[in-house]
Amino acid sequence: GKVAVLLGGTSAEREVSLNSGNAVLNALIAAGVDAFAFDPAERALSELKASGVDRVFIALHGRGGEDGTIQGALEFMGIPYTGSGVLGSALAMDKIRCKQLFQSAQLSTAAFAVVDAKAGFDAANIINEFGKVMVKPSHEGSSIGMAQAETAEQLTDALNNAFKYDDQVLVEQWITGREFTVAMLGNEALPVIEMVTPRGFYDYEAKYKVNSTEYHCPAALSDAHTQQLQIMATHAFALVGAQGWGRVDAMQDENGQFYLLEVNTVPGMTEKSLVPMAAKAVGVTFEQLVVRILEQTL
Ligand code: DAL
Ligand code: MG
Repeated sequence: GKVAVLLGGTSAEREVSLNSGNAVLNALIAAGVDAFAFDPAERALSELKASGVDRVFIALHGRGGEDGTIQGALEFMGIPYTGSGVLGSALAMDKIRCKQLFQSAQLSTAAFAVVDAKAGFDAANIINEFGKVMVKPSHEGSSIGMAQAETAEQLTDALNNAFKYDDQVLVEQWITGREFTVAMLGNEALPVIEMVTPRGFYDYEAKYKVNSTEYHCPAALSDAHTQQLQIMATHAFALVGAQGWGRVDAMQDENGQFYLLEVNTVPGMTEKSLVPMAAKAVGVTFEQLVVRILEQTL
């Protein structure tokens, strides 16, 4: 049957989604699937049903596409779709709720404060409590709106910038150490990837723009650490109700302790993205990966 690849959309990650969606579309076509692109920013979702589509591959990142909204609409229209359902999508898109769930399950995650734009904040107090911090709009992706801060002035600037994207902002204690990600396919952890960047952190530029980012897959970790991180990722993925495929991000401090950052339910899917990189490490090509994700909707 016919498959629509949902891409683009209106979130701050529109450009990333166009890249993911087009890569997915090309792979589906190469695999002989009757697929077409559908950009929810340009067409009404009601046209989907009318187009006689049988299934949907969601390649939308960020709010509106990765947060349960589209998933709910597709449920309502009775159209099967890839990846997580309404609840898992909504929870994973919310970094603050994710961390609260990690804590309730005794999964290691960095200490944090929640700042609400409407309630105001005491920057000096937060810096006193945590020292250096990372500021993150709660419902964004691709590091959009994120910044480091180690003084009250820097934190004030970082928060005011983050409020452009979200009323809810996560202020996380800074972890000095290494950054890892674990791709999930069919609810199983793939080989761990380490991202190494000369920049302050793995930001938007490091993810998509510069060539200076190094990727190590499988990551140079002991077998015990690899297993520990894969188990944490699998637990976190299930805990937020994520399904089918996704990616769990984490840090490791200088003592070897891991800290979960978040769960992504529609991670980047360009040929250079992390989930395809981890799949390749177990012999799964990009085309096979895309087909396997689609097959989960059958
Ligand atoms: N939010 C981006 C697309 C990612 O997690 O890969
Ligand atoms: Mg994310």
